[in-house]
Amino acid sequence: MMDAGRHPLINLMTYSEIENVGGYIGNFNVTVRKKARYVDENECNACGECEKICPVVAPDSFQEGFSSRKAIYMPFPQAVPSVFILDDQDCLGHNPIACGKCADVCEKNCIDFDMKDEIVNLEVGAVIVATGMDVYDPTEMDEYGYTKYENVITSMEFERLISAGGPTEGHFIRPTDHKTPKRIGFIQCVGSRSQSPIGNPYCSNICCMNTIKDSLLLKDHYKDVDISVFYMDIRAFGKGFEDLYQRSKQAGVKYLRGLPGEIFEDDKTKNLTLLAEDTTTGEIIDHEFDLVVLSVGVIPRKDSGLVQKLLTLSKTEDGFFMESHPKLKPVDAPTGGVFFAGCAEFPKDVKDSVTQASAAAARAQILMNAGQISVEAITSVIDQNMCTSCGICVKACPFNAITGGDAKTKTPAQVIEAACKGCGTCAAECNFDAITMKHFEDEQIMAQVEAILDKDAEDKTLVFACNWCSYAGADLAGLSRLQYPTSQRVIRTMCSGRVDSKFILHAFEEGAPIVLVSGCHFADCHYIDANRWTVKRVEKLWDKLEKLGIRPERLQLEWISAAEGQKWKRTMEEMEEMRKSVTTEEIEFTQKVLKEEREKAEAKKAKRALKKKETVSVPIN
Ligand code: FES
Repeated sequence: MMDAGRHPLINLMTYSEIENVGGYIGNFNVTVRKKARYVDENECNACGECEKICPVVAPDSFQEGFSSRKAIYMPFPQAVPSVFILDDQDCLGHNPIACGKCADVCEKNCIDFDMKDEIVNLEVGAVIVATGMDVYDPTEMDEYGYTKYENVITSMEFERLISAGGPTEGHFIRPTDHKTPKRIGFIQCVGSRSQSPIGNPYCSNICCMNTIKDSLLLKDHYKDVDISVFYMDIRAFGKGFEDLYQRSKQAGVKYLRGLPGEIFEDDKTKNLTLLAEDTTTGEIIDHEFDLVVLSVGVIPRKDSGLVQKLLTLSKTEDGFFMESHPKLKPVDAPTGGVFFAGCAEFPKDVKDSVTQASAAAARAQILMNAGQISVEAITSVIDQNMCTSCGICVKACPFNAITGGDAKTKTPAQVIEAACKGCGTCAAECNFDAITMKHFEDEQIMAQVEAILDKDAEDKTLVFACNWCSYAGADLAGLSRLQYPTSQRVIRTMCSGRVDSKFILHAFEEGAPIVLVSGCHFADCHYIDANRWTVKRVEKLWDKLEKLGIRPERLQLEWISAAEGQKWKRTMEEMEEMRKSVTTEEIEFTQKVLKEEREKAEAKKAKRALKKKETVSVPIN
């Protein structure tokens, strides 16, 4: 941090918030609000006189509320830049009765109560998202009594109490009597690996090693302290981790397999009793401790939704940002020119965070050094003459790669080729055929539909499969030599978002008994959330088919991932059963109804086009 602060080519903006991000890869425009700190950061030499004289006392959030700070304070000892900050919510200088004592004692006159937020506009080529993490709040886990018993603390609170820079200068005490606890219990996986609605289902990755480190730290400070760790599994998989775990055991730390069900406190002594089953013996045992540490898990930053919106990112079900590809592009965001570092993407320790940060910096540098980017070959093209400026494509694009499309100003939509990733959702949503998807054009896909259904259409199931998940799932089924009916014919699109309603209706008109649209699971779509548009489209089609007297079940929607070869096989078997249930009369009826519908729509379209031609204004002399 210090190095970054001093580097001549790094502009470190602390106490600032991103307000807006526009543009695209290589050309981002970022609006930053530099919040007023009421202290001139170029002048302040951190002498601390202002802090000494300030009469306002507020809880110090950095010290987890174990100590207090003043209204003007240093955020934490290692803060960069090392300058004071004035909290305008606490400061009397902004209340009706002005205090101003800090300004009086500041020899360098760097306190300015009238300082205003500053808006800074930056032009950048790449963005690295390193928003960090929050920790799980165990308040909801009533059984551990975090809100009832003062001597039940979290691992974050433990860190402050054991730190030399903490409120007790590293003398570890228990909150109720300020004595050094002799018996300490650690409970692992608090808020992690939970199967119940309370907590999170994922492993937080860092808690096991953090507790092992804490236990060694305690043993180092206090030789005779008795430590027990309650765990499900100890995950010590990194370099040197097993060694550390063994050292902790050799130092006398007891590892007990089984998580406690409940904690009780003795009113008088404030000692804590834990009821836990030892899962290796099946015995329920009472354990008494002076202090209990809840090893809380990691959760995504609470304000990460804002960053997600600003950069059009997607999240996994766990709420962390989703990378472009978990194996091949683990630091790239799906949005071009955006990279991830640290826990923004998933819980990770310092070493992994540094590794990912280095990779993200290198990825950004490759982009910047090249000075130019290669765009996708599969992008969409908008015919400006056919565009009615309705703006639906602008809304549908998951990458904000389409501008214009403003009906009020009659500005036709335009694609920013550098930002387009080629999902084809815009082309599928355009009602005026104004968008062409290179390499996946309407004519090409319609021709595939016709070729497939040209002969023996009633014996075939037509499947639209997205390139990244379902098609790969089909591939896996094939590679695994899984046996399933051979009636399906697959048309590959880059994303299920490309599957236009007219492809499906055309397939039914050509005699398809069953049409299946398949794509990635939600939050797995390679194009952020393009598959949400697929759902909307299919739902509309179900309604339409029902109104026309066609069984909506003949159109199926299924999410199949690249790893789900078995699911592909199962789905194909189900489709085959459904296909057999569709009668020839049903198919003929569908063909007749859809043909009439199409002819009606074409006549309407022709009429509209004629009207448009007639109303073209002629210049008046
Ligand atoms: Fe598979 Fe979008 S990429 S559904």
